[in-house]
Amino acid sequence: MEIDRRAFIASLGGAAAVNLMDHEAKAEALEHYMEEKLDAMVAAQQPEKFPTVAEIEAQIETKNFRRGAGGLFASGRGNMQKLPPMPAKPTLKDFFELRFNPANHVLQSATRAMKTGMSEEVTLACLLHDCVLSLIKPDHGWWGAQLFEPYIPEKSAFAIRYHQTLRFYADDDAGYEYPDQYYRIFGHDYTPPAYIEQTYKMLKNHKWYMEPRLVTVNDLYAFDPNAKVSFEPFEDIVGRHFKQPKEGLGFDNSPSAHMWRTLSRPDQPL
Ligand SMILES: [Fe+2]
Ligand SMILES: [Fe+2]
Repeated sequence: MEIDRRAFIASLGGAAAVNLMDHEAKAEALEHYMEEKLDAMVAAQQPEKFPTVAEIEAQIETKNFRRGAGGLFASGRGNMQKLPPMPAKPTLKDFFELRFNPANHVLQSATRAMKTGMSEEVTLACLLHDCVLSLIKPDHGWWGAQLFEPYIPEKSAFAIRYHQTLRFYADDDAGYEYPDQYYRIFGHDYTPPAYIEQTYKMLKNHKWYMEPRLVTVNDLYAFDPNAKVSFEPFEDIVGRHFKQPKEGLGFDNSPSAHMWRTLSRPDQPL
């Protein structure tokens, strides 16, 4: 085992403290330090213990918000912050900057899609695939597709709607494995409900299967806390494929305009 001399000396209170120790005390301290290190190394090698479905369910009554509340509506820690007002005619970019931010995960997944040469429809779907989590979390594939459907290509909406389902099913050929994150958030003994299984069966034989599948592939590797990403690289794709309404999102009477307004003003009581 390698000893980090600085860390060891610091753990004893610094060089001055070490100088005051006799030989026997130093030897004992070193042994103790190495034992602790060894324990930590063994602990780090243990496989992570994932919760069960029952354990996750038991947490419901320990929280003052539901897990399904959108990110804008629930705070895991402390009070809410005042939101910056939206411009009168908000664009997709405004929502990214003022309501979906930091949007790091979706930006990372779209960045990866662009780097790996995905089609513009898939890259756009990656960019938008989880934005609706600011509004609501259960069935976010369906909600997300509905939010964006009036403005994006059909293939991108299909990919957003069904990435949620395909996330539960590994596809070795496509390079997608069941994520550890799902053992963590659903429980290791979780099985998806029947409607998800039925949707999966439908998708397996669908000519557009690869559209949502490629979103899941780019989804998997988009959780790097140190990644530096921004909206700018996607402005061209958004310009080509996102039909920005001239009245602003929320005010164009589209089937999802109300959802954009709710995102704009989540503090409205009614
Ligand atoms: Fe998702
Ligand atoms: Fe995602």
